[in-house]
Amino acid sequence: MSSILAIETSCDDTCAAVLDGPRVLSSVISSQAAAHAQFGGVVPEVASRHHLELVAPVVEAALAEAGCSLDRIEGVAVTAGPGLIGALLVGVSAAKAIAAPRRLPLIPVDHLQGHVAANFLEPEPLQPPFLCLVASGGHTLLAGVRDHSGYELLGQTLDDAAGEAFDKVARLLGLGYPGGPALQKLAEEGDPEAFEMPVAMSRDPGLDFSFSGLKTALVYLCRDLGPDEVGRRRADLAASFQAAAVSQLTAKLERALKRGEWSAVALGGGVAANGPLRAAVTALCEHRGLPLKLVPIELCTDNAAMIGSAARFAESIPYPGYLAYDAFARPKRAAA
Ligand code: KG4
Ligand code: ZN
Repeated sequence: MSSILAIETSCDDTCAAVLDGPRVLSSVISSQAAAHAQFGGVVPEVASRHHLELVAPVVEAALAEAGCSLDRIEGVAVTAGPGLIGALLVGVSAAKAIAAPRRLPLIPVDHLQGHVAANFLEPEPLQPPFLCLVASGGHTLLAGVRDHSGYELLGQTLDDAAGEAFDKVARLLGLGYPGGPALQKLAEEGDPEAFEMPVAMSRDPGLDFSFSGLKTALVYLCRDLGPDEVGRRRADLAASFQAAAVSQLTAKLERALKRGEWSAVALGGGVAANGPLRAAVTALCEHRGLPLKLVPIELCTDNAAMIGSAARFAESIPYPGYLAYDAFARPKRAAA
């Protein structure tokens, strides 16, 4: 199967893409960020309703941009989970509705496998084995990638995701949603050593992450400083938080590199857009003599091209076996 239509609606972006093998012919992303900004975070019901309105035009736009009609599509890939269940159901139902009348196979894709599979896309597909750090608003994990169809879960967050922590701290500092990019910008004017932050999981020998302690430390610090001082030192607070978050992510990545034989490193998820994180991981890889794959930002954040990429190596369900197929909200795999 070489022509795939892929749909991704697991959170707050409505996405569709058309792939010809590893080549992305189109990738359309309709962000709902503005609709959620007034609430300071993603409201699941609002997301589902927006997906419902947007999924058909976004699919049409992806087909038009690819110069491809549905007759040429050989399979329909869709994010089946994990994510917001109502949002996922919209994508899965849309994919079934496109696939079933044409007797096309459906390829359900795990969203996290999608983030990993973004690295398999052209122009420079990365060959396993590699270590992939995925840090987004919903997930933070270290994946040991030895083949194209799966990964070993080496570590994951025990509480908040990295992006979620950026968003919550940004909100605390009066920045808009999503807060990651705004926090990074504010941090550029601050001193990363201005405030001492807790080093999370430093005594834990494993590869799991934790961000809620760091976020709570910020909450208490702001309370102790008081509103005037917080107002004056927002940039220092942002820079100190960012440095601590980046240092935890890179420390775990370094530990995982020391423990296994990996021939490359990849970064994925929305937080991979973070400049200081990119710089720290670049320095780490240079130090260890390992190539680092940084996929373009639009393939790091949620998109359907990565779902189509994962679908190339996933099991497809022939018609009509998928008519009762259900989305799943929680990750399907257990920690390794
Ligand atoms: O992968 P993504 O688009 O969606 C999820 O799967 O969650 O990631 C979005 C997350 C948000 O939490 C956002 O604040 C964060 O990525 N993010 C950043 C930056 N750009 C986006 N975090 C830190 N620095 C950035 N420059
Ligand atoms: Zn994601």
